[in-house]
Amino acid sequence: TGNATIDISRLPKELGYFTYDPGFVATASCHSAITYLDGDKGVLEYRGYPIEQLAEKSSFLEVCYLLFHGELPNEKELTDFDQIITTHTMLNEQMKRFYSGFRRDAHPMATMVGVVGALSAFYHHDEDIHDPKHRMITAHRLIAKMPTIAAWSYRYANGQPMVYPKNSLDYSSNFLYMMFSMPTEEYTPDPLFVKALELLLILHADHEQNASTSTVRLAGSSGANPFAALSAGIASLWGPAHGGANEAVIRMLQDIVDSDNDVAHYVARAKDKDDRFRLMGFGHRVYKNFDPRAVIIRKTCLELLEQLGPDNQYQELFDTAKELEEIALADEYFVKRNLYPNVDFYSGIILLAMGIPLNMFTVIFAMARTVGWISHWNEMIADDDFRIGRPRQLYLGSEPRDYVEIENR
Ligand code: ACO
Repeated sequence: TGNATIDISRLPKELGYFTYDPGFVATASCHSAITYLDGDKGVLEYRGYPIEQLAEKSSFLEVCYLLFHGELPNEKELTDFDQIITTHTMLNEQMKRFYSGFRRDAHPMATMVGVVGALSAFYHHDEDIHDPKHRMITAHRLIAKMPTIAAWSYRYANGQPMVYPKNSLDYSSNFLYMMFSMPTEEYTPDPLFVKALELLLILHADHEQNASTSTVRLAGSSGANPFAALSAGIASLWGPAHGGANEAVIRMLQDIVDSDNDVAHYVARAKDKDDRFRLMGFGHRVYKNFDPRAVIIRKTCLELLEQLGPDNQYQELFDTAKELEEIALADEYFVKRNLYPNVDFYSGIILLAMGIPLNMFTVIFAMARTVGWISHWNEMIADDDFRIGRPRQLYLGSEPRDYVEIENR
């Protein structure tokens, strides 16, 4: 608390104890059975299943089912789930008009915050959040509609017609179809990109009590409409210290390439405490050894670039990223602070290679994390201990004093 004086007599006393933990570094805000992290060992599990196995064998929709329901679906359950999601992919036609209220150059994350929040105006009446069936339908709606909302934010920004979902396509293909198909020509999503997108969605689907998930929980803990709570989560995700890092990484790598690859200069800047610059895509609150998602993504990125051929235009960014990683990992500053590449360090290069524009990167993260957010919201409300989230504070302000009349101030 720096030089501030703490008046012990003014600390909260109702419970007989008080903890001060800025940033919630060591405080559990809830209990959860969804995702397990071991930051020292680099372990990430969804409902007990290692992320490496899910990344290799599962599909995004199967992971959605797992995260929300707690178990892997059997064949029939997965087919039914797939079908239910498919029936919810459309947006109310009025939403098209809602998009046109935004500036064309708005960041698509701003549009996402608005559109997802606006859905609370469509799904509210007579819906009881304490009814598990209602919560499940809310999850279906959100998982299904997010790719449509995301793709439409891109289409609107480009002045292109909105493309309706094509329900014969799988989840990821449908998103790419809504992003890139034109009325003038046939569009078939590249299977290579579909596979890469599925992987990115799986790896970003949940990450326990990160900033955006905690935001959704806190917003939803007052009993607020879940679409409005999700909108708050999207706002939180947008920041560069969280989901916005994937966009910031590419901007940083491009700057390095443009500076004749002066990687050492950027590493030196990141270490300089008088410079606010940080290595984007580096460091994590929980992972202090390695981020298992980054390991998988780096491998996938390399494979994708190999398949695109040696002259692909993204190779230079990848080589720069690799060099940056090598230099940083051999540097005492980063070693001492346990700073490693995180999930976002290589993901942007994959998205770029898929033709996804930079400002859509965090939108895709939001699409993936939607299932995590709604699963946590569902778990929180179903919990017998469910109560409004209400953090306390350490008051460092003025002592009690008397009001001073304005003419005497
Ligand atoms: N570059 C340079 N130094 C860093 C970096 C970095 N990327 N990350 C942390 N540090 C330094 C800090 O300056 C601090 O140094 P100090 O001990 O000398 O003061 C120390 O490492 C600890 O950093 P904190 O900011 O206290 O760590 P915290 O857990 O609060 O922050 C965070 C974690 C936000 C991820 C941070 O590492 C960061 O800003 N990284 C860059 C942004 C990024 O990639 N975000 C994506 C995270 S993953 C996700 O949300 C999907």
